[in-house]
Amino acid sequence: MNSFSFNHLSYIFACHFGYGLLNLSSLSLIIVFLFILIRFPMISTVASTEVMVSNASSSFDPEDGSNYDSANDMKAFDETKGGVKGLADSGLIKIPRFFVHPPEKPQQPPSKSSNINLQVPIINFEGFESSRRKDVVNEIRRASENWGLFQVVNHGIPENVMDDMLEGVKRFHEQPQEVKTEFYTRDADQRVKFFTGALLLTKEPAIWRDTVAFDFKDGKLDPQLFPAIMREEVGEYFRHVTKTGKALSELLSEALGLRRNYLSSIECMETESLVGHYYPACPQPELTFGTTTHSDPSFLTILLQDNKGGLQVLHQNQWVDVPPLQGALLVNIGDLMQLITNDRFRSVEHRVLAGEVGPRISLASFFFPSTANTFKPYGVIQELLSDDTPIYRATHLAEFMGQYMSTGSYISTLSHFKVSSGQDCSSTEDTDH
Ligand code: OGA
Ligand code: NI
Repeated sequence: MNSFSFNHLSYIFACHFGYGLLNLSSLSLIIVFLFILIRFPMISTVASTEVMVSNASSSFDPEDGSNYDSANDMKAFDETKGGVKGLADSGLIKIPRFFVHPPEKPQQPPSKSSNINLQVPIINFEGFESSRRKDVVNEIRRASENWGLFQVVNHGIPENVMDDMLEGVKRFHEQPQEVKTEFYTRDADQRVKFFTGALLLTKEPAIWRDTVAFDFKDGKLDPQLFPAIMREEVGEYFRHVTKTGKALSELLSEALGLRRNYLSSIECMETESLVGHYYPACPQPELTFGTTTHSDPSFLTILLQDNKGGLQVLHQNQWVDVPPLQGALLVNIGDLMQLITNDRFRSVEHRVLAGEVGPRISLASFFFPSTANTFKPYGVIQELLSDDTPIYRATHLAEFMGQYMSTGSYISTLSHFKVSSGQDCSSTEDTDH
């Protein structure tokens, strides 16, 4: 969750932990807090306003190769509350400098290319509750070990529910600006929010994307808070995707060789954050990103994408397209799942290219532990260890997310929790039920 997730993470973070970071030492608190305000502007409007004046952002300038101070431009853009769509609608032919990303370094995989010989696994869930369960479990195991993500067909969510949800996200972003700006906020207490890919106070360039986000804490969110323009769709999709999440938690448990209810018993997927992304057509897609490279810090993510394409996954050090597949859902393993499975299942880096054609709509559902478990230790599952030693020490969600955000890294923060990194190996017993 790069810039991407930085926005929705701020959201998740705020929802889960509020100001739980006050438990950290004061120096790290200040660093973490500043970072959160920088990367996650929605945490607190008041606080971010105070800090804003003293920080500068910079972006790469493709014309003269220099950096420029983008803070004021980003701030001005943010204050329009119109999002990237508002900007795109103004008919500009050159994107503002603060959206321009530096050219990739030579050691990184080639940017826009995709290896057509590699194909993201597609798993047919038909019969997964009966005759084909064993096959489905085996396919999930292979895909989670080798790819960290897979497409699922015949998962049980009716196509019209998915289509309606994507349409709902589109309608939200395409409604008159003055209506949607009511939801534009950085208030941590707001559980429904609209925000953009422009991040104040960060050195990172902005991304070409707007988002509407819903925080279903412990699976609950008052439908009266949903924007009227998509109220039915959000409720309906949420009900279905929650069921799919439960089915996946059982299948993944079995794929790990554990009893079916193992993952549900440790309550690691009880809270859901739904984020509806809108990627407007971009006049200079080669200069920016829709979503920059990141892995999801969640336990599991279920993604619904429309038919525009642009999502890529890093596999064997190559960017591989995740082609839209009618009726399919994309499932990806998150960092926390990688941690508790001792690297058996992989959280995978992915990104979204900006596109000349748009808008592209997607809807990600991130699964996190119940709010009661914010400080519960999650460590490597004891049953998976046999003679291996755990790669990671136990951590809790508050610490994990604090670390994730404090590093400023878009990439997984898992290595911080490696036992060999000099950290204590705390008991993992608490995770066993
Ligand atoms: C995300 C993400 C991909 C997409 O929100 O974490 O990776 O297709 N989104 O929007
Ligand atoms: Ni993601």
